Amino acid sequence: MSEKTMLIHAGRVVAQVSPVTRGDIALRHYFEANEWLQPPLRRAISRAVFVYFRWVQWIAPKAPPFERVQHALELQRRFDANPASVKIEALAARAVPDWLREEMPELPPGWLLQLQRDPALWLRARPGAADALAARLGDCERTDRSPDALRYTGRTDLFLTPEFKAGEFEIQDLASQLVGLACAPEPGATWWDACAGEGGKTLHLCDLMRNKGVVWGSDRHTGRLETLKRRAKRAQLFNYRAAVWDGSAKLPTKAKFDGILVDAPCSGVGTWQRNPHARWTTTLADVRELGARQVSLLGHVAGSLKPGGRLVYAVCTLTRAETSTVVEDFSAAHPELEPQASQTLWPHELNANGMFIAAWTRKK
Ligand SMILES: C[S@@+](CC[C@H](N)C(=O)[O-])C[C@H]1O[C@@H](n2cnc3c(N)ncnc32)[C@H](O)[C@@H]1O
Repeated sequence: MSEKTMLIHAGRVVAQVSPVTRGDIALRHYFEANEWLQPPLRRAISRAVFVYFRWVQWIAPKAPPFERVQHALELQRRFDANPASVKIEALAARAVPDWLREEMPELPPGWLLQLQRDPALWLRARPGAADALAARLGDCERTDRSPDALRYTGRTDLFLTPEFKAGEFEIQDLASQLVGLACAPEPGATWWDACAGEGGKTLHLCDLMRNKGVVWGSDRHTGRLETLKRRAKRAQLFNYRAAVWDGSAKLPTKAKFDGILVDAPCSGVGTWQRNPHARWTTTLADVRELGARQVSLLGHVAGSLKPGGRLVYAVCTLTRAETSTVVEDFSAAHPELEPQASQTLWPHELNANGMFIAAWTRKK
């Protein structure tokens, strides 16, 4: 594959990305329309597009798209060879949007550096099977943060491996795995993953419960719930129920739960290393609106907790409006819940997404 071919294709994708189209979605559409592109070329094009949006504020906006991509790749090469060649002040000014300071007065230098690197790929092995899986896949590293997490450093397309097809692992970011561990559900308990999406955390909860008890997984999108069901079947997990819930006061069940996870829709600032295009499309108004929606989602599910039950709130973002403000506003409105310690997981400390996790216990 020539670098010129890759640059031309990446330039075409960059030219197609509009303020409302996410970079990863533009890539998916481009690959669907150009099925003949082979996996190595697809990987190179995807990386070039992500590198472009990491360095876009350093690049002359009027140059032809493939020249802009070429410039971005050159900036990435220089940064990878010597991260100190880019000053922290320059990263604070150009690697993130200006409005972010209103929501994050402190921008840790380590995080700004992390934002400009290629992201790590994390797997979640089935409980207790990480060592055996690592031996079969090769190119895996353990972490002391989670017993089942593996960082994959190889180049094989993991979705094509027999281990993936047999349900022996999920691709799941380390920060997301730490949300499941923070829930710590007991086997036999009843949990509700209220914003289940495609079920990444639902499946983790089912696994932690050793296929015993039940996890309700709800989402507003039926298509995502269908994916959850396919994934559960592959993993041979049966202790779940999928239900549609649009986030309103009309709940999908009258059941009371030992635990509820609200992995809420958020601005995703903690994923900006993996999804750099979002840095330039997310607005302060989005962040504030999402914060209010998160408080509303928490309020709607709170009455479904059993006495002594735990409510866990997680967002893959780091803004004040979606973290401490949500905790303060929700706690003030719900004196029947006891707040517990919250935690902020920083991308540069985990080599993974950023995440905020808070929890409450219903007073008995
Ligand atoms: C952060 S994602 C969940 C990711 C998922 N838990 C996982 O681990 O893969 C948030 C989910 O909330 C859902 N959502 C957004 N707004 C909602 C609402 N008002 N009510 C219910 N679900 C909503 C979205 O469809 C999305 O799937």
